[in-house]
Amino acid sequence: MGEKLREESYLAGEGLATAIFLALKLQKPLFLEGEAGVGKTEVAKVLSRMLETPLIRLQCYEGIDVNQAVYEWDYARQLLHIRTAEALGTTGGDRSRLEDELYTRQFLVQRPLLQAIEHRGENPPILLIDEVDRADDEFEAFLLEILSDYSVTIPEIGTVRAERPPVAILTSNRTREVHDALKRRCLYFFIDHPDLEREVEIVRLRVPDAEERLTRQVAKAVQRLRSMDLYKPPGVAETLDWTEALVALGAKELNEDLIEATMGSVLKYHEDQQRVLLQSLSLLAGS
Ligand SMILES: Nc1ncnc2c1ncn2[C@@H]1O[C@H](COP(=O)(O)OP(=O)(O)O)[C@@H](O)[C@H]1O
Ligand SMILES: [Mg+2]
Repeated sequence: MGEKLREESYLAGEGLATAIFLALKLQKPLFLEGEAGVGKTEVAKVLSRMLETPLIRLQCYEGIDVNQAVYEWDYARQLLHIRTAEALGTTGGDRSRLEDELYTRQFLVQRPLLQAIEHRGENPPILLIDEVDRADDEFEAFLLEILSDYSVTIPEIGTVRAERPPVAILTSNRTREVHDALKRRCLYFFIDHPDLEREVEIVRLRVPDAEERLTRQVAKAVQRLRSMDLYKPPGVAETLDWTEALVALGAKELNEDLIEATMGSVLKYHEDQQRVLLQSLSLLAGS
């Protein structure tokens, strides 16, 4: 599994590779937890390429509800339909028939969960339920239900069921604990920041234009930043952005001036930048 992931430019540790393998084999949802930028969302994208199957993404946010996740009725089109029927005089006074017409497939808007359930294809789709920790308890309870039987009842239409369960990937940035019940339904894996060697390899893989010396220096500097108790420690995403910025400036190796000039690629909070500027630019530049 590790090899296949690498072919798609993703470097997973053995633990993660095994978790992904098992999730596919046992057809269980995979719950990935970890700080921002450690590569959680990317797992779903990589699997979609690897298994040559569509990625259906449900981005969670505060206040997300079932309508936004499963289906909605297209009010604007329904209204237009009524107006047109009235204008053409085709209602014939038969209100109830007109109303029936309004709740048919034609006016149904599929949201990601329904799309995943109704997907028909050679392979089940990848269903990415991203940043579950942002949704509220009620929505979590609803997800639990969906993940148990992948069926949805639309009162006006009936019950639809997935032919085969989608490959579900749930992620959480751990801004709060997600309920045990939901985790119990899934295989759980915590993605940590990579160690130095793996991060160097990730940068080599993703930013092949970077000089080897620069790559190492950046990876080391990022590791140091992570140990500095910052408000927002950099993830792999920031390491890659930073390296790309340095390469764009033609840098062959890191120095204090370059760090200062490109700091916005790796630290996104003013306080964190101030702190690093005060303490340890020279420390970071050291190879
Ligand atoms: N192990 C890895 N191998 C290759 N690229 C990685 C890895 N981990 C993270 N990345 C890259 O870092 C960036 C951020 O990853 P992402 O999945 O968005 O993080 P998260 O969802 O955990 O916040 C992406 O561009 C991704 O390609
Ligand atoms: Mg993400």
